[in-house]
Amino acid sequence: SLPVPSVQELVRNDPQSVPQRYTQLPADRPVVPDISPLSFDIPIVDFALLAKGDENETGKLDLACKEWGFFQIINHGVAEEVLLNMKAAIAAFFELPLEEKNKYAQAGNDFQGYGQAYVVSEEQKLDWCDMVFLITLPHEIRNLKYWPHAIPGFKEAIERYSKEAKRVAEEICANLSLLMGMDKDGLKRFYGKTKQAMRLNYYPPCSRPDLVLGFNPHSDPDIVTLLLQDDEVPGLQIRHKGKWIPVKPIRNAIVVNVGDVVEILSNGMYKSIEHRATTNESKARISLATIMIPYDELEIGPMQCAVDDGRPRMYRNIKYLDYVRYTLGRKTEGKAHLDNIL
Ligand code: SIN
Ligand code: FE2
Repeated sequence: SLPVPSVQELVRNDPQSVPQRYTQLPADRPVVPDISPLSFDIPIVDFALLAKGDENETGKLDLACKEWGFFQIINHGVAEEVLLNMKAAIAAFFELPLEEKNKYAQAGNDFQGYGQAYVVSEEQKLDWCDMVFLITLPHEIRNLKYWPHAIPGFKEAIERYSKEAKRVAEEICANLSLLMGMDKDGLKRFYGKTKQAMRLNYYPPCSRPDLVLGFNPHSDPDIVTLLLQDDEVPGLQIRHKGKWIPVKPIRNAIVVNVGDVVEILSNGMYKSIEHRATTNESKARISLATIMIPYDELEIGPMQCAVDDGRPRMYRNIKYLDYVRYTLGRKTEGKAHLDNIL
């Protein structure tokens, strides 16, 4: 990974400057603010109904995964206090002076810690974003040296949210398993033990939000992602039928998306959708992506029940670690890599 500077520091030193490495090619520049009315069609799923096995709601989930790959969940039972503490902890971290933040910097080849997303080339357009990446579950593989102990309550905030995120993700996976033709524990058995990781994103304000992207287009190479968006500052956009559609923040809702692994397991029935983040002219934006990832050694490929004469196998089997390495190397291609793993 090639090191790049902190965007927050760039802005602090010169709020007007937008270096060329961040300036998107004209075709990739966002329309901001984007007020597409389609944004109101992004499905909203009631988690409490889902957990009760309500058929209407599972039908909504099925359709959401087939047609959108993204939905927002409400009534998820995560206390507002847990969400607020989590967001406050992230904000407090990024408010620390650079030399304090650097105490938790990514070191060597470790992708955990404070820094910027993986950069593969000098030419690639950079994200207008600083971040912290942490593996949060299982407990025994946490590396606490990257957890900002300078922030009182940071560890507790993550621990509480992490537990809730696991509960919510597992309920969604149980429902997806049933919808994919397995029993409730199907996905769980398939992916074996999973890891949970979190990416804490900080998008500094940008004087030219029409030129840059906070997060370049990508699909998530995981099972499912739970995203906490900033309630005040929108920014997430998903690619739907060739258009970029903003996902409007709903207070205390959690945005969920299907990852590449579910797309592959379901043989393409459920889609892992390309998405990106935009920036705001005057306000910083915070988001938190919680990802469920299989163990490195797990072989992923279409489930038997998802392949038949009408639906031939779309992906070959691949070890998860090889898949991730492959996607990292091709990260400037959005999700084109998925079209190539046959
Ligand atoms: C992500 O794709 O992980 C983050 C998107 C966002 O910040 O809304
Ligand atoms: Fe993502």
